[in-house]
Amino acid sequence: MTAMLTAVVVDNFENKARSLLSLDQCLDLDNAVANNFYSQHLNKYMLQLFDILGLKDMDIRGAQGVEIWLNDGRTLLDFSAGLGVLGLGHNHPRIIEAERKCHERKVIDCIKIAPHKLQGALAYNLSQFLPEPLNVSFLAVSGAEANEAAMKLSERVQTPNRKTKFLCMRGAFHGKTHGALSLTTATDVQSGFLLGVPKENVIYIQYGDINAMREAIKIETGGRGDNSIIAAMVETIRGTSCEIPPAGYLTDFVQLCRDNDILSIFDEVKVGMGRSGRFCAFQHENVVPDIVTLAKTLGGGKREVAAMVTSQALFDRAYGNKQDCNLHSSSFSGLGESCAVAIETLNILQDERLIENAERMGDYLSKGLHALKAKHPKQILDVRGRGMFQAIRLNFHQELAEKLVDVSKNPLFQTYQTVLIGALVRELYDRHAILVHFQPGARDILHFMPPFIVREEQIDKLIAALDEILSRGIGDATVRFVAKNIKRVFRDII
Ligand SMILES: Cc1ncc(COP(=O)(O)O)c(C=O)c1O
Repeated sequence: MTAMLTAVVVDNFENKARSLLSLDQCLDLDNAVANNFYSQHLNKYMLQLFDILGLKDMDIRGAQGVEIWLNDGRTLLDFSAGLGVLGLGHNHPRIIEAERKCHERKVIDCIKIAPHKLQGALAYNLSQFLPEPLNVSFLAVSGAEANEAAMKLSERVQTPNRKTKFLCMRGAFHGKTHGALSLTTATDVQSGFLLGVPKENVIYIQYGDINAMREAIKIETGGRGDNSIIAAMVETIRGTSCEIPPAGYLTDFVQLCRDNDILSIFDEVKVGMGRSGRFCAFQHENVVPDIVTLAKTLGGGKREVAAMVTSQALFDRAYGNKQDCNLHSSSFSGLGESCAVAIETLNILQDERLIENAERMGDYLSKGLHALKAKHPKQILDVRGRGMFQAIRLNFHQELAEKLVDVSKNPLFQTYQTVLIGALVRELYDRHAILVHFQPGARDILHFMPPFIVREEQIDKLIAALDEILSRGIGDATVRFVAKNIKRVFRDII
Protein backbone atom coordinates (compact mmCIF):
# COMPACT_ATOMS: atom_id res chain seq x y z
CA MET A 1 0.00 0.00 0.00
CA THR A 2 2.81 2.37 0.88
CA ALA A 3 4.32 1.93 -2.59
CA MET A 4 1.47 3.90 -4.14
CA LEU A 5 1.90 6.88 -1.87
CA THR A 6 3.86 9.64 -3.52
CA ALA A 7 5.74 11.85 -1.14
CA VAL A 8 6.79 11.13 2.40
CA VAL A 9 7.23 14.38 4.25
CA VAL A 10 8.88 14.52 7.61
CA ASP A 11 7.60 17.47 9.52
CA ASN A 12 10.17 18.32 12.13
CA PHE A 13 7.77 20.37 14.12
CA GLU A 14 5.29 17.53 14.54
CA ASN A 15 8.06 14.95 14.31
CA LYS A 16 5.76 12.70 12.33
CA ALA A 17 6.33 11.16 8.91
CA ARG A 18 3.41 12.15 6.72
CA SER A 19 2.52 10.48 3.44
CA LEU A 20 -0.58 11.88 1.84
CA LEU A 21 -2.66 10.39 -0.91
CA SER A 22 -3.23 12.80 -3.77
CA LEU A 23 -6.79 13.40 -4.96
CA ASP A 24 -5.99 11.67 -8.27
CA GLN A 25 -4.78 8.61 -6.40
CA CYS A 26 -7.92 8.64 -4.29
CA LEU A 27 -10.23 8.85 -7.28
CA ASP A 28 -8.58 5.77 -8.80
CA LEU A 29 -8.14 3.87 -5.56
CA ASP A 30 -8.27 0.10 -5.77
CA ASN A 31 -11.34 -1.16 -3.88
CA ALA A 32 -9.44 -3.48 -1.56
CA VAL A 33 -7.00 -0.71 -0.65
CA ALA A 34 -9.89 1.71 -0.05
CA ASN A 35 -11.59 -0.84 2.20
CA ASN A 36 -8.37 -1.12 4.14
CA PHE A 37 -8.35 2.62 4.79
CA TYR A 38 -12.02 2.43 5.72
CA SER A 39 -11.35 -0.38 8.14
CA GLN A 40 -8.24 1.11 9.72
CA HIS A 41 -9.21 4.77 9.81
CA LEU A 42 -12.99 5.00 9.68
CA ASN A 43 -15.15 2.21 11.06
CA LYS A 44 -14.15 -1.40 10.67
CA TYR A 45 -17.42 -2.66 12.13
CA MET A 46 -19.52 -0.87 9.52
CA LEU A 47 -17.32 -2.53 6.93
CA GLN A 48 -18.12 -5.89 8.49
CA LEU A 49 -21.84 -5.12 8.20
CA PHE A 50 -21.42 -4.20 4.52
CA ASP A 51 -19.50 -7.43 4.08
CA ILE A 52 -22.30 -9.56 5.55
CA LEU A 53 -24.72 -8.05 3.03
CA GLY A 54 -22.24 -8.67 0.21
CA LEU A 55 -21.89 -4.93 -0.39
CA LYS A 56 -18.31 -4.41 0.77
CA ASP A 57 -16.79 -5.29 -2.59
CA MET A 58 -19.17 -3.12 -4.59
CA ASP A 59 -16.48 -1.41 -6.64
CA ILE A 60 -18.25 1.71 -7.91
CA ARG A 61 -17.01 3.47 -11.03
CA GLY A 62 -19.75 6.09 -11.18
CA ALA A 63 -23.47 6.73 -11.03
CA GLN A 64 -26.14 8.54 -12.98
CA GLY A 65 -29.87 8.70 -12.42
CA VAL A 66 -31.15 5.43 -10.97
CA GLU A 67 -28.04 3.55 -12.09
CA ILE A 68 -24.75 2.77 -10.36
CA TRP A 69 -21.93 1.47 -12.59
CA LEU A 70 -19.46 -1.04 -11.20
CA ASN A 71 -15.91 -1.64 -12.34
CA ASP A 72 -16.74 -5.30 -13.03
CA GLY A 73 -19.12 -4.11 -15.76
CA ARG A 74 -22.35 -4.60 -13.84
CA THR A 75 -24.99 -1.86 -13.68
CA LEU A 76 -27.08 -1.65 -10.52
CA LEU A 77 -30.54 -0.17 -10.10
CA ASP A 78 -30.53 1.96 -6.97
CA PHE A 79 -33.82 1.53 -5.11
CA SER A 80 -32.18 2.69 -1.88
CA ALA A 81 -31.45 6.20 -3.21
CA GLY A 82 -29.14 7.20 -0.37
CA LEU A 83 -31.98 6.47 2.09
CA GLY A 84 -33.86 9.43 0.67
CA VAL A 85 -31.05 11.79 -0.32
CA LEU A 86 -31.31 11.02 -4.03
CA GLY A 87 -34.77 12.20 -5.03
CA LEU A 88 -33.24 13.52 -8.26
CA GLY A 89 -31.08 10.43 -8.70
CA HIS A 90 -27.31 10.39 -8.89
CA ASN A 91 -25.52 13.29 -10.58
CA HIS A 92 -28.53 15.00 -12.08
CA PRO A 93 -27.16 16.96 -15.11
CA ARG A 94 -28.79 20.21 -14.01
CA ILE A 95 -27.22 19.91 -10.56
CA ILE A 96 -23.80 19.35 -12.14
CA GLU A 97 -24.47 22.36 -14.35
CA ALA A 98 -25.51 24.46 -11.33
CA GLU A 99 -22.21 23.60 -9.64
CA ARG A 100 -20.31 24.40 -12.83
CA LYS A 101 -22.00 27.80 -13.05
CA CYS A 102 -21.03 28.54 -9.45
CA HIS A 103 -17.40 27.59 -10.17
CA GLU A 104 -17.29 29.57 -13.38
CA ARG A 105 -18.63 32.69 -11.66
CA LYS A 106 -16.54 32.10 -8.55
CA VAL A 107 -19.66 32.31 -6.43
CA ILE A 108 -18.82 33.10 -2.86
CA ASP A 109 -19.51 30.18 -0.57
CA CYS A 110 -19.00 31.76 2.77
CA ILE A 111 -19.66 35.26 3.99
CA LYS A 112 -20.70 35.40 7.59
CA ILE A 113 -20.50 39.11 8.28
CA ALA A 114 -22.86 40.22 5.54
CA PRO A 115 -26.02 38.73 4.01
CA HIS A 116 -25.56 36.04 1.35
CA LYS A 117 -27.89 36.60 -1.61
CA LEU A 118 -28.43 32.90 -2.22
CA GLN A 119 -29.54 32.18 1.35
CA GLY A 120 -32.46 34.60 1.14
CA ALA A 121 -33.29 33.35 -2.35
CA LEU A 122 -33.39 29.72 -1.23
CA ALA A 123 -35.60 30.61 1.74
CA TYR A 124 -37.93 32.46 -0.67
CA ASN A 125 -38.12 29.46 -3.02
CA LEU A 126 -38.91 27.16 -0.12
CA SER A 127 -41.75 29.43 0.94
CA GLN A 128 -43.19 29.09 -2.58
CA PHE A 129 -43.63 25.34 -2.10
CA LEU A 130 -45.04 25.57 1.41
CA PRO A 131 -48.44 26.81 2.58
CA GLU A 132 -48.83 30.08 4.47
CA PRO A 133 -47.60 31.04 7.01
CA LEU A 134 -44.54 28.78 6.61
CA ASN A 135 -42.20 31.31 5.06
CA VAL A 136 -39.20 31.83 7.36
CA SER A 137 -36.31 29.36 7.18
CA PHE A 138 -33.25 28.45 9.19
CA LEU A 139 -30.68 26.69 7.02
CA ALA A 140 -28.66 23.75 8.32
CA VAL A 141 -26.61 20.89 6.93
CA SER A 142 -28.46 17.80 8.19
CA GLY A 143 -31.89 16.58 9.11
CA ALA A 144 -30.87 16.21 12.74
CA GLU A 145 -29.71 19.83 12.80
CA ALA A 146 -32.95 21.03 11.26
CA ASN A 147 -34.80 19.17 14.02
CA GLU A 148 -32.47 20.66 16.64
CA ALA A 149 -33.34 24.09 15.26
CA ALA A 150 -37.05 23.26 15.49
CA MET A 151 -36.69 22.13 19.10
CA LYS A 152 -34.66 25.17 20.11
CA LEU A 153 -37.05 27.59 18.42
CA SER A 154 -39.94 25.91 20.24
CA GLU A 155 -38.15 26.17 23.58
CA ARG A 156 -37.60 29.89 23.03
CA VAL A 157 -41.21 30.47 22.01
CA GLN A 158 -42.46 28.68 25.10
CA THR A 159 -39.96 30.21 27.55
CA PRO A 160 -42.52 32.66 29.02
CA ASN A 161 -44.87 29.71 29.60
CA ARG A 162 -42.22 27.81 31.61
CA LYS A 163 -42.89 24.63 29.68
CA THR A 164 -40.32 21.86 29.96
CA LYS A 165 -41.36 18.80 27.97
CA PHE A 166 -41.43 17.45 24.42
CA LEU A 167 -43.92 14.96 23.11
CA CYS A 168 -42.86 12.44 20.48
CA MET A 169 -43.63 9.01 19.15
CA ARG A 170 -42.29 5.64 20.21
CA GLY A 171 -40.25 4.20 17.36
CA ALA A 172 -39.51 7.64 15.92
CA PHE A 173 -36.37 8.69 14.06
CA HIS A 174 -35.38 12.36 14.16
CA GLY A 175 -31.58 12.18 14.00
CA LYS A 176 -28.64 11.40 16.22
CA THR A 177 -27.39 14.73 17.57
CA HIS A 178 -28.00 15.10 21.30
CA GLY A 179 -31.28 17.01 21.10
CA ALA A 180 -32.79 15.12 18.18
CA LEU A 181 -31.56 11.88 19.73
CA SER A 182 -33.71 12.59 22.78
CA LEU A 183 -36.74 12.17 20.51
CA THR A 184 -35.32 9.23 18.54
CA THR A 185 -36.37 5.83 19.79
CA ALA A 186 -36.58 3.80 16.59
CA THR A 187 -33.75 1.55 17.70
CA ASP A 188 -31.58 1.53 20.74
CA VAL A 189 -29.56 4.52 19.54
CA GLN A 190 -29.91 6.43 22.84
CA SER A 191 -28.06 3.78 24.75
CA GLY A 192 -25.01 5.05 26.63
CA PHE A 193 -25.46 8.71 25.72
CA LEU A 194 -26.32 11.71 27.83
CA LEU A 195 -29.37 13.11 26.07
CA GLY A 196 -29.82 16.76 25.13
CA VAL A 197 -33.31 16.63 26.59
CA PRO A 198 -33.40 14.37 29.67
CA LYS A 199 -35.75 11.39 29.49
CA GLU A 200 -38.02 12.80 32.22
CA ASN A 201 -38.68 15.76 29.91
CA VAL A 202 -39.90 13.63 27.02
CA ILE A 203 -43.29 11.99 26.69
CA TYR A 204 -43.35 9.03 24.32
CA ILE A 205 -46.65 7.93 22.79
CA GLN A 206 -47.97 5.54 20.15
CA TYR A 207 -47.61 6.72 16.52
CA GLY A 208 -50.88 7.29 14.68
CA ASP A 209 -53.02 7.13 17.83
CA ILE A 210 -54.64 10.52 18.42
CA ASN A 211 -56.39 9.31 21.57
CA ALA A 212 -53.04 8.38 23.10
CA MET A 213 -51.90 11.94 22.41
CA ARG A 214 -55.08 13.37 23.94
CA GLU A 215 -54.56 11.24 27.04
CA ALA A 216 -50.89 12.22 27.34
CA ILE A 217 -51.79 15.92 27.18
CA LYS A 218 -54.52 15.41 29.77
CA ILE A 219 -52.02 13.81 32.17
CA GLU A 220 -49.67 16.78 31.71
CA THR A 221 -52.40 19.36 32.25
CA GLY A 222 -52.47 21.01 35.66
CA GLY A 223 -55.28 22.59 37.69
CA ARG A 224 -55.17 25.93 35.86
CA GLY A 225 -55.67 24.15 32.57
CA ASP A 226 -52.15 24.72 31.27
CA ASN A 227 -49.79 21.91 30.37
CA SER A 228 -46.03 21.39 30.42
CA ILE A 229 -45.55 20.46 26.75
CA ILE A 230 -43.41 22.72 24.58
CA ALA A 231 -43.88 20.97 21.25
CA ALA A 232 -44.91 17.68 19.68
CA MET A 233 -42.77 16.22 16.92
CA VAL A 234 -43.94 13.61 14.42
CA GLU A 235 -42.81 12.02 11.15
CA THR A 236 -45.56 12.51 8.60
CA ILE A 237 -44.83 9.00 7.31
CA ARG A 238 -43.00 6.87 9.81
CA GLY A 239 -39.56 6.21 8.34
CA THR A 240 -38.47 3.03 10.06
CA SER A 241 -41.59 1.06 9.26
CA CYS A 242 -42.85 3.05 6.24
CA GLU A 243 -46.16 3.60 7.99
CA ILE A 244 -48.76 6.11 6.82
CA PRO A 245 -50.78 7.44 9.77
CA PRO A 246 -54.59 7.08 9.66
CA ALA A 247 -56.37 9.63 7.45
CA GLY A 248 -56.98 12.84 9.37
CA TYR A 249 -54.36 12.05 12.01
CA LEU A 250 -52.03 14.91 11.08
CA THR A 251 -54.96 17.36 11.02
CA ASP A 252 -56.13 16.21 14.46
CA PHE A 253 -52.51 16.33 15.66
CA VAL A 254 -52.15 20.00 14.76
CA GLN A 255 -55.59 20.88 16.12
CA LEU A 256 -54.85 19.15 19.43
CA CYS A 257 -51.59 21.06 19.62
CA ARG A 258 -53.31 24.39 18.89
CA ASP A 259 -56.03 23.72 21.48
CA ASN A 260 -53.38 23.12 24.11
CA ASP A 261 -50.78 25.73 23.22
CA ILE A 262 -48.30 23.10 22.07
CA LEU A 263 -46.18 23.73 18.96
CA SER A 264 -46.51 21.16 16.18
CA ILE A 265 -43.37 20.03 14.37
CA PHE A 266 -43.64 17.86 11.25
CA ASP A 267 -40.41 16.05 10.41
CA GLU A 268 -40.35 15.81 6.59
CA VAL A 269 -36.62 15.11 6.40
CA LYS A 270 -37.11 11.76 4.71
CA VAL A 271 -40.43 12.05 2.92
CA GLY A 272 -40.55 15.76 2.12
CA MET A 273 -39.29 17.36 -1.11
CA GLY A 274 -41.78 15.37 -3.20
CA ARG A 275 -41.10 11.77 -2.18
CA SER A 276 -44.70 11.07 -1.14
CA GLY A 277 -46.20 12.58 -4.30
CA ARG A 278 -46.74 15.97 -2.64
CA PHE A 279 -44.03 18.51 -1.82
CA CYS A 280 -44.52 17.55 1.83
CA ALA A 281 -46.36 14.43 2.93
CA PHE A 282 -48.58 16.52 5.24
CA GLN A 283 -50.01 18.13 2.09
CA HIS A 284 -52.02 14.96 1.49
CA GLU A 285 -54.16 16.48 4.24
CA ASN A 286 -55.43 20.04 4.51
CA VAL A 287 -53.23 20.97 7.45
CA VAL A 288 -50.34 23.30 8.28
CA PRO A 289 -47.99 22.65 11.20
CA ASP A 290 -46.15 25.36 13.14
CA ILE A 291 -42.77 24.07 12.01
CA VAL A 292 -41.59 21.75 9.25
CA THR A 293 -38.11 20.29 8.73
CA LEU A 294 -36.60 19.30 5.38
CA ALA A 295 -33.25 17.84 4.33
CA LYS A 296 -32.04 14.88 2.21
CA THR A 297 -33.36 15.55 -1.33
CA LEU A 298 -33.08 19.32 -0.76
CA GLY A 299 -29.35 18.98 -1.48
CA GLY A 300 -29.98 17.55 -4.96
CA GLY A 301 -27.89 14.50 -4.05
CA LYS A 302 -24.71 16.62 -4.15
CA ARG A 303 -24.79 19.00 -1.17
CA GLU A 304 -25.56 18.92 2.54
CA VAL A 305 -28.50 21.27 3.00
CA ALA A 306 -31.40 21.18 5.41
CA ALA A 307 -34.03 23.65 6.51
CA MET A 308 -36.33 24.33 9.38
CA VAL A 309 -39.26 26.39 8.18
CA THR A 310 -41.71 28.23 10.40
CA SER A 311 -43.81 31.40 10.46
CA GLN A 312 -42.58 34.95 10.94
CA ALA A 313 -44.77 35.18 14.06
CA LEU A 314 -43.08 32.22 15.74
CA PHE A 315 -39.61 33.28 14.60
CA ASP A 316 -40.27 36.70 16.14
CA ARG A 317 -41.34 35.15 19.43
CA ALA A 318 -38.17 33.05 19.54
CA TYR A 319 -35.49 35.33 18.18
CA GLY A 320 -37.25 38.61 17.39
CA ASN A 321 -34.72 41.27 18.28
CA LYS A 322 -31.20 42.25 17.30
CA GLN A 323 -29.73 40.72 20.45
CA ASP A 324 -31.26 37.29 20.05
CA CYS A 325 -31.50 36.96 16.27
CA ASN A 326 -28.29 34.93 16.10
CA LEU A 327 -28.80 32.84 19.23
CA HIS A 328 -29.02 29.75 17.07
CA SER A 329 -26.50 29.65 14.21
CA SER A 330 -23.86 27.48 12.58
CA SER A 331 -20.69 28.02 10.50
CA PHE A 332 -21.89 25.95 7.58
CA SER A 333 -25.47 27.17 7.57
CA GLY A 334 -26.27 28.07 3.96
CA LEU A 335 -22.95 27.92 2.12
CA GLY A 336 -23.32 29.55 -1.28
CA GLU A 337 -22.96 26.53 -3.50
CA SER A 338 -25.21 24.44 -1.25
CA CYS A 339 -27.90 27.11 -1.55
CA ALA A 340 -27.41 27.25 -5.34
CA VAL A 341 -27.85 23.48 -5.59
CA ALA A 342 -30.93 23.54 -3.35
CA ILE A 343 -32.42 26.38 -5.42
CA GLU A 344 -31.83 24.36 -8.59
CA THR A 345 -33.26 21.24 -6.96
CA LEU A 346 -36.53 23.05 -6.29
CA ASN A 347 -36.58 24.28 -9.89
CA ILE A 348 -35.93 20.78 -11.21
CA LEU A 349 -38.80 19.40 -9.12
CA GLN A 350 -41.07 21.99 -10.72
CA ASP A 351 -39.75 22.01 -14.32
CA GLU A 352 -39.50 18.24 -14.68
CA ARG A 353 -42.76 17.66 -12.79
CA LEU A 354 -40.95 15.21 -10.57
CA ILE A 355 -43.44 15.36 -7.71
CA GLU A 356 -46.18 14.32 -10.12
CA ASN A 357 -43.87 11.60 -11.42
CA ALA A 358 -43.22 10.42 -7.86
CA GLU A 359 -46.96 9.99 -7.44
CA ARG A 360 -47.47 8.32 -10.83
CA MET A 361 -44.55 5.95 -10.47
CA GLY A 362 -45.62 5.36 -6.88
CA ASP A 363 -49.00 4.12 -8.09
CA TYR A 364 -47.23 1.88 -10.59
CA LEU A 365 -44.90 0.49 -7.91
CA SER A 366 -47.79 -0.01 -5.53
CA LYS A 367 -49.76 -1.97 -8.18
CA GLY A 368 -46.73 -4.16 -8.82
CA LEU A 369 -46.19 -4.81 -5.12
CA HIS A 370 -49.88 -5.59 -4.54
CA ALA A 371 -49.84 -8.05 -7.45
CA LEU A 372 -46.79 -9.64 -5.86
CA LYS A 373 -48.59 -9.92 -2.54
CA ALA A 374 -51.56 -11.56 -4.27
CA LYS A 375 -49.17 -14.10 -5.78
CA HIS A 376 -47.20 -14.71 -2.58
CA PRO A 377 -49.77 -14.13 0.19
CA LYS A 378 -47.96 -16.34 2.68
CA GLN A 379 -44.69 -14.45 2.32
CA ILE A 380 -45.88 -10.83 2.01
CA LEU A 381 -48.09 -9.65 4.87
CA ASP A 382 -48.72 -6.17 3.57
CA VAL A 383 -47.70 -3.46 1.13
CA ARG A 384 -47.29 0.02 2.60
CA GLY A 385 -46.12 3.53 1.84
CA ARG A 386 -46.82 6.08 -0.81
CA GLY A 387 -45.12 7.58 -3.86
CA MET A 388 -41.40 6.87 -3.91
CA PHE A 389 -41.35 5.49 -0.38
CA GLN A 390 -42.90 2.03 -0.25
CA ALA A 391 -42.22 -1.23 1.50
CA ILE A 392 -43.38 -4.80 1.93
CA ARG A 393 -43.77 -6.44 5.30
CA LEU A 394 -42.56 -10.00 5.12
CA ASN A 395 -43.86 -12.95 7.05
CA PHE A 396 -40.97 -13.58 9.40
CA HIS A 397 -43.27 -15.06 12.05
CA GLN A 398 -43.34 -11.87 14.12
CA GLU A 399 -46.86 -12.50 15.45
CA LEU A 400 -45.98 -16.01 16.58
CA ALA A 401 -42.76 -14.80 18.21
CA GLU A 402 -44.60 -11.95 19.96
CA LYS A 403 -46.62 -14.58 21.82
CA LEU A 404 -43.42 -16.16 23.11
CA VAL A 405 -40.89 -13.35 23.66
CA ASP A 406 -40.48 -9.57 23.73
CA VAL A 407 -39.41 -9.34 20.09
CA SER A 408 -38.05 -5.79 20.43
CA LYS A 409 -35.53 -7.02 22.99
CA ASN A 410 -34.92 -10.65 22.10
CA PRO A 411 -31.50 -10.84 20.37
CA LEU A 412 -32.09 -14.34 19.03
CA PHE A 413 -35.29 -13.34 17.25
CA GLN A 414 -33.66 -10.16 15.99
CA THR A 415 -30.75 -12.14 14.59
CA TYR A 416 -33.20 -14.52 12.93
CA GLN A 417 -35.02 -11.61 11.27
CA THR A 418 -31.76 -9.92 10.28
CA VAL A 419 -30.60 -13.10 8.56
CA LEU A 420 -33.85 -13.37 6.58
CA ILE A 421 -34.00 -9.72 5.51
CA GLY A 422 -30.24 -9.65 4.94
CA ALA A 423 -30.62 -12.66 2.67
CA LEU A 424 -33.18 -10.79 0.56
CA VAL A 425 -31.06 -7.65 0.31
CA ARG A 426 -28.04 -9.72 -0.69
CA GLU A 427 -29.96 -11.85 -3.16
CA LEU A 428 -31.36 -8.75 -4.89
CA TYR A 429 -27.85 -7.35 -5.17
CA ASP A 430 -25.93 -10.53 -6.06
CA ARG A 431 -28.36 -12.05 -8.55
CA HIS A 432 -30.46 -9.13 -9.76
CA ALA A 433 -28.19 -6.08 -9.45
CA ILE A 434 -30.77 -4.15 -7.42
CA LEU A 435 -30.06 -2.18 -4.26
CA VAL A 436 -32.67 -2.04 -1.51
CA HIS A 437 -32.45 -1.62 2.24
CA PHE A 438 -34.10 -2.23 5.58
CA GLN A 439 -33.98 -0.40 8.91
CA PRO A 440 -32.71 -2.05 12.10
CA GLY A 441 -35.86 -0.86 13.93
CA ALA A 442 -38.15 -2.97 11.69
CA ARG A 443 -36.32 -6.00 10.36
CA ASP A 444 -39.28 -7.62 8.63
CA ILE A 445 -39.84 -4.64 6.32
CA LEU A 446 -38.05 -4.27 3.00
CA HIS A 447 -37.90 -0.66 1.79
CA PHE A 448 -38.05 0.67 -1.78
CA MET A 449 -37.01 4.31 -2.19
CA PRO A 450 -36.19 4.99 -5.84
CA PRO A 451 -35.34 8.45 -7.15
CA PHE A 452 -38.40 10.30 -8.47
CA ILE A 453 -37.11 9.90 -12.03
CA VAL A 454 -37.51 6.11 -11.93
CA ARG A 455 -39.13 4.57 -15.02
CA GLU A 456 -41.76 1.84 -15.35
CA GLU A 457 -39.32 -0.68 -16.83
CA GLN A 458 -36.98 -0.19 -13.87
CA ILE A 459 -39.84 -0.86 -11.47
CA ASP A 460 -40.75 -3.92 -13.58
CA LYS A 461 -37.24 -5.26 -13.01
CA LEU A 462 -37.60 -4.89 -9.24
CA ILE A 463 -40.98 -6.65 -9.22
CA ALA A 464 -39.68 -9.47 -11.44
CA ALA A 465 -36.63 -9.93 -9.19
CA LEU A 466 -38.77 -10.05 -6.04
CA ASP A 467 -41.12 -12.49 -7.76
CA GLU A 468 -38.25 -14.76 -8.72
CA ILE A 469 -36.82 -14.76 -5.19
CA LEU A 470 -40.17 -15.32 -3.48
CA SER A 471 -41.11 -18.06 -5.96
CA ARG A 472 -37.98 -19.95 -4.94
CA GLY A 473 -38.78 -19.16 -1.32
CA ILE A 474 -37.07 -16.98 1.27
CA GLY A 475 -35.49 -20.15 2.67
CA ASP A 476 -33.54 -20.68 -0.54
CA ALA A 477 -32.03 -17.17 -0.37
CA THR A 478 -31.35 -17.67 3.35
CA VAL A 479 -29.39 -20.87 2.80
CA ARG A 480 -27.13 -19.08 0.31
CA PHE A 481 -26.78 -16.07 2.64
CA VAL A 482 -25.81 -18.24 5.60
CA ALA A 483 -23.38 -20.25 3.42
CA LYS A 484 -21.68 -17.02 2.33
CA ASN A 485 -21.37 -15.90 5.93
CA ILE A 486 -20.63 -19.28 7.45
CA LYS A 487 -17.03 -18.47 8.30
CA ARG A 488 -18.15 -15.34 10.10
CA VAL A 489 -20.88 -17.22 11.98
CA PHE A 490 -18.31 -19.67 13.31
CA ARG A 491 -15.77 -16.94 14.04
CA ASP A 492 -18.31 -14.83 15.95
CA ILE A 493 -19.68 -17.75 17.92
CA ILE A 494 -16.36 -19.40 18.81
C1 LIG B 1 -37.40 11.34 9.49
C2 LIG B 1 -35.96 11.68 9.71
N1 LIG B 1 -35.64 12.73 10.48
C3 LIG B 1 -34.36 13.09 10.69
C4 LIG B 1 -33.33 12.38 10.15
C5 LIG B 1 -31.92 12.78 10.42
O1 LIG B 1 -31.37 13.31 9.28
P1 LIG B 1 -29.77 13.37 9.12
O2 LIG B 1 -29.32 11.95 8.97
O3 LIG B 1 -29.56 14.20 7.90
O4 LIG B 1 -29.24 14.00 10.34
C6 LIG B 1 -33.61 11.28 9.33
C7 LIG B 1 -32.52 10.50 8.73
O5 LIG B 1 -32.68 9.46 8.17
C8 LIG B 1 -34.95 10.91 9.11
O6 LIG B 1 -35.28 9.86 8.35
